[in-house]
Amino acid sequence: MADLDGTQGDKEFYTDTPQEPPGFFLKGSHQYDWGLKNRLSRVFNPETGRTIMLAFDHGYFMGPTTGLERVDQTILPLEPHCDCLMLTRGIQRSIIPASTGKAIALRASGGTSMVSPMDEWEGELDGKPARLARPGYEPLSFEDTAVDIEEAIRLNASVLAVQVFIGGQHERRSLQNLTRTIDAANRYGIAVMGVVAVGRSMERTPKYFRMATRIMAELGAHIIKCYHTEEEFETITSCCPVPIVIAGGKKRPERDALQMAYDACRQGASGVDMGRNIFQSAAPVPMMKAVRGVVHGGMSPDEAFDLYRSLQDEA
Ligand code: R5P
Repeated sequence: MADLDGTQGDKEFYTDTPQEPPGFFLKGSHQYDWGLKNRLSRVFNPETGRTIMLAFDHGYFMGPTTGLERVDQTILPLEPHCDCLMLTRGIQRSIIPASTGKAIALRASGGTSMVSPMDEWEGELDGKPARLARPGYEPLSFEDTAVDIEEAIRLNASVLAVQVFIGGQHERRSLQNLTRTIDAANRYGIAVMGVVAVGRSMERTPKYFRMATRIMAELGAHIIKCYHTEEEFETITSCCPVPIVIAGGKKRPERDALQMAYDACRQGASGVDMGRNIFQSAAPVPMMKAVRGVVHGGMSPDEAFDLYRSLQDEA
């Protein structure tokens, strides 16, 4: 077994030496087929190697959360300023104009909700009747795949996003959702993004994120989405052989969110997949433009926050 005490010295993450993708711009992606590379080039800007995914798929388990009550009113004004729309097929078909030039990252796992029964569940597991009723039961981790590959092709998805609950009660099931989606997506040159879920029993430490992101990359995910950490984030990006984008997480002050995006990119992230810190901002379009300034425009957090405030004043 690797990592037994005494079998090796300190870990070496080579954080100062970027992993080269010879002949292509995106980490770990240089040996894919043409179609997949082309889709990734729509998601990630080949000039900067980074992406701004606008995440508004939260309704798939939360319903109309704050800022997403009317996606037509709140998200469509943001659409011109992002690179990729991360969404559900229901919102894509009902609200997003088919004329959009933005890449699509389609939510491809689901099946549970914020109000899934917390105490017990009865059904079938691995072909046998099962009843789950124990303290710490994690209903949210009991997801299934939610979109088949033909549907993803009809919706012209560039990316399929699958939630993975490493260390969670239904870890194995969520990893199978991931690998089955990867097998299907690889047949057609569509990328799969493994999304690191954080549940009650899962830590938000660099050690946890290094393990979770690496496991998903080893299983074949083309992109990984995870959270930023205050410490050692560069070790997470360094030992993950494919691009990492960060989720924004709960709404925080705009200056703090810009700092987080800046730090993450400087520490090796290939962009953001941000939702609430944009659409729940006091001024969503200025915030979107400020995030763009950080991710693609080389702005410092202060410069981007100044941009945010000046655009907010004009609005
Ligand atoms: C969570 O429900 C979704 O996977 C979101 O896409 C993800 O959490 C990113 O959104 P936020 O920046 O709001 O955390």
